[in-house]
Amino acid sequence: MSKKALGILLLFFSLQVFGEEIVFTDSEKSLLEAFTPWPIVIPADPGNEYSGLQWAEALGAQLFNDPVLSADQTISCASCHQSSKGFSDGSALPQAGAAPHVRNTQGLQNVGYQRWFGWDGGADSLWAASLRPMLSEVEMASDIEDVATKLRVTTYFTKALQQNDLEITALDDETLVVTVAKFIGAYMRTLVSGETSFDKFLASFDAPDIELQYPLSAQRGMKIFFGEGNCFVCHFGPNFSNGEFHDIGRPFFTGIGQVDPGRFTGIERLKNDPFSLAGNFNGTNNKAEILKTTSVKFGQLNFGQWRTPSLRNLEQTAPYMHDGSLQTLRDVIDYYAEIDPARLHSKGEAILKSIKWSEREREDLVKFLETLSEN
Ligand code: HEC
Ligand code: HEC
Repeated sequence: MSKKALGILLLFFSLQVFGEEIVFTDSEKSLLEAFTPWPIVIPADPGNEYSGLQWAEALGAQLFNDPVLSADQTISCASCHQSSKGFSDGSALPQAGAAPHVRNTQGLQNVGYQRWFGWDGGADSLWAASLRPMLSEVEMASDIEDVATKLRVTTYFTKALQQNDLEITALDDETLVVTVAKFIGAYMRTLVSGETSFDKFLASFDAPDIELQYPLSAQRGMKIFFGEGNCFVCHFGPNFSNGEFHDIGRPFFTGIGQVDPGRFTGIERLKNDPFSLAGNFNGTNNKAEILKTTSVKFGQLNFGQWRTPSLRNLEQTAPYMHDGSLQTLRDVIDYYAEIDPARLHSKGEAILKSIKWSEREREDLVKFLETLSEN
C-alpha cells in the first residue's frame, strides 16, 4: 500500500474514532447559561414562618416519615414519596393510599423551586400541599381533629414544640395541623438534588482544561433539546421547568366517561382552598405572594394542562407523565417525535411539532436526558 493510501486510511479511522467534535455556538452557550447554576438555593416556602429554621426542618422530616398523620396510622408521606426513588413511588399510580388515585406520585426533589404545587398547581405553598394529602380520601384519609388529637399525645412532637417555646395547648386543632404542615414544608424545601454530568459539562465551557467524559451522543441530544426540539421553552431554567402549565396532548381520560381536567380543577382547588396564601393562615403576609394567588384566572385552555415537570433525576422517578402512562425515557421521546399537532387541545402550544426523529436522534435525546440525573 502506498504511503498516501495508508495516510488516507488512517485519517478515515481516526475520524471514526475521534473524528466527531461538537461545537457549541456563542448563542447556544448564552442560552445554556440560563440553565446554571446548580445546585441552587431554594427560596423560602411562601407564607411559612418556620421555613429555614433548622429545628422545624428536622421535625418536619420526622413527621414526613410518621404514619400517625393518616387515619388508620399505616400510611406516611414516605409510603408514596420514597427517598430511594427521588421521593416518588415507582408505580404509574400510587398503591399505598387509602383509595385508588388517578395521578402519578410526584418526586419531591427541588420541589421548593416551583411556584405552584401538584400536577395541576392546586396548591400555592409547600405547606398547603402538605396539608392536602392528610385530608385527601385517596391519600391519608384523615381529618384535622383526628391528626391533632393524635399529635397532642405524640411525645417527640410535644417535646419539640416545648423546646422551641410553642405552647401546644394554646393552639386550636386547625392551627396545630397547619403548623405541622408548615414544619413538613420547611423540610421539603431542603430536598435539593446534586450536581450532574450536564452541570459539569456546562462548567467546562469556562474551564476548558477540565478533563471531561461527557458522551458525544448526549451532546448531540443537547443540540436537539435546545434547538429544533424546542424542549427548552417549557423545560426552562436550572430546574428544567418553567413552572407553568401546558398541554402536550397526553390523554386525560381516567376511566370510561371520566376525565381529569388538570389545570382547570387546579385553579378551582386553589380558589376554594382555605389554606391558600390568601386565607387566614398565611404566616408571613408577603403582599406580592398573595397577589400571585389572588390574580390567578381561569382560561379556556386550562383543560388538559399540567405543570411542566422538572427533568432532573428522571432516572429515579419512572414512570412518567401526570398519569404515569409512559414507562421509559425512550417512550417519552417516541411520544414527542410522533406528536400530532392537530390533536393538541390548545392552539397555544405551537412550539410542539411532529419531527419524526431518526433512531439515532431519539437515542441521543435519551442519552442527554440521562445526563440530567446524578449517578
Ligand atoms: C397515596 C400516596 C401519597 C401520599 C400518602 C402522599 N402523597 Fe404527596 N403526592 C401524591 C400524588 C399522587 C401527588 C400528585 C397529586 C396531584 O397532582 O394532585 C402528590 C403531590 C405532592 C406534592 C406536590 C409536588 C409538586 O411537585 O408539586 C407535595 C409537596 C406532596 N405530595 C407532599 C406530600 C406530603 C407532605 C405528604 C404527607 C403529609 C404526602 N405528599 C403524602 C401521592 C401521595
Ligand atoms: C409546551 C411545553 C413543553 C414542551 C415544548 C416540551 N415539554 Fe416535556 N413536558 C411538558 C409537560 C406539561 C409535561 C407533563 C405532561 C403530562 O403529565 O401529561 C411534560 C413531560 C415531560 C417528561 C416526563 C417527565 C415526568 O417527570 O413525568 C419528559 C421526560 C419531557 N417532558 C421531556 C421533553 C422533551 C425531551 C421535549 C422536547 C422534545 C419536551 N419535553 C418538550 C411540557 C413541555
